[in-house]
Amino acid sequence: MGLPRGPFFWLLLLIAAACSGILFALYLSAGERYPGPRSRARNSASSQAFIGPKASNSGTRKSLRCRHPLSLDIRRHPHFRGLFNLSTPVLLSWPLFTQELWDSLSQHKAPYGWQGLSRQAITSTLRLLNGSESTELFTGSREPRPHCIRCAVVGNGGILNGSRQGRNIDAHDYVFRLNGAVIKGFEDDVGTKTSFYGFTVNTMKNSLISYWTLGFTSVPQGQDLHYIFIPSDIRDYVMLRSAILGVRVPEGPDKGDRPWTYFGPEASASKFKLLHPDFISYLTERFLKSKLINTTFGDLYMPSTGALMLLTALHTCDQVSAYGFITRNYWKFSDHYFERIKKPLIFYANHDLSLEAALWRDLHKAGILWLYQR
Ligand SMILES: *[C@@H]1O[C@H](CO)[C@@H](O)[C@H](O)[C@H]1NC(C)=O
Ligand SMILES: *[C@@H]1O[C@H](CO)[C@@H](O)[C@H](O)[C@H]1NC(C)=O
Ligand SMILES: *[C@@H]1O[C@H](CO)[C@@H](O)[C@H](O)[C@H]1NC(C)=O
Ligand SMILES: *[C@@H]1O[C@H](CO)[C@@H](O)[C@H](O)[C@H]1NC(C)=O
Repeated sequence: MGLPRGPFFWLLLLIAAACSGILFALYLSAGERYPGPRSRARNSASSQAFIGPKASNSGTRKSLRCRHPLSLDIRRHPHFRGLFNLSTPVLLSWPLFTQELWDSLSQHKAPYGWQGLSRQAITSTLRLLNGSESTELFTGSREPRPHCIRCAVVGNGGILNGSRQGRNIDAHDYVFRLNGAVIKGFEDDVGTKTSFYGFTVNTMKNSLISYWTLGFTSVPQGQDLHYIFIPSDIRDYVMLRSAILGVRVPEGPDKGDRPWTYFGPEASASKFKLLHPDFISYLTERFLKSKLINTTFGDLYMPSTGALMLLTALHTCDQVSAYGFITRNYWKFSDHYFERIKKPLIFYANHDLSLEAALWRDLHKAGILWLYQR
């Protein structure tokens, strides 16, 4: 007797379910300033990290409408309070280039210093970074600007293979990627949005060579995408200058390179950002001071590109989620998410991945970032 009513009943149930789904999405987004499709895509795990009972308003940075700005957790944390200095300039631009800076940086060797580097090459590059878009990470095109800046930083760790985190990643206001960030074929796992791509010329070119056959055949490009140059060598300054001017690289190991083959046809200073060498030193000194510094590999040691991007996000965004970063159970996963056959993660002497793993774990525990784990 229920039979004739069957299909109709199920249809009603479906509509009711759909409505409650929409209502639930609205409920979730009610507190956000700009509810949009991203609110619906949030997964409960990542929401949980940020929707806490704590009252928000830190009042300091651009986080007026943020329910749970990371600056608040930093200030409350006995250890991290003393490490973070959110006033440290993150980017280097022409207005910050003073005689004093030159004098201090030329006393330190690369990767963080300018000792032995051509002043002319550095000056001619920095001179091009004189607009407001060179002093801040978040500028320009995005209107209205979110009051609570939510960022996802996507490392390339094997943990992302089969993770189906793509929608959650794309739901953030800004997405940072780095090095061999393969997207095609992995959209469900890593998303498609890229706001920032971070690299050194060395790591970018190595990624193109090493991961070409695994699908990394070009650096991410797009209108809303900005490049974050990590200075580790004079090459980075020379490439950056050539990229802004839209000319072939005139000298050095990359001589003859056409920057537009990496970064697309749009050549303008607003497309490119340069991390401040003092910011990298500060990060290394405070967060990633490895014992390797005192070994024969000391001169090679540098935080990984992923670590630099994640810490950059932590110094510029109000909320940060980290995907594809090293976790305690890293041995369960391949080195990179785009590998077809499992390849173990190797700890080379130029990075200290154990130290980085401990840092992400501690920052996650402190509620300062949310680390994707499984
Ligand atoms: C934080 O950094 C700013 C800018 O470099 C500096 O002026 C200030 O003294 C630093 N604060 C602390 C507590 O180290
Ligand atoms: C940089 O911008 C400032 C202010 O707009 C201007 O006064 C200065 O001449 C510019 N410097 C260069 C090297 O273009
Ligand atoms: C490296 O050695 C110096 C002097 O021996 C010491 O002061 C410093 O703390 C050491 N650094 C690390 C990271 O172990
Ligand atoms: C990653 O995922 C792909 C497709 O799901 C699969 O074919 C491949 O074997 C996986 N790689 C590893 C290392 O597990």
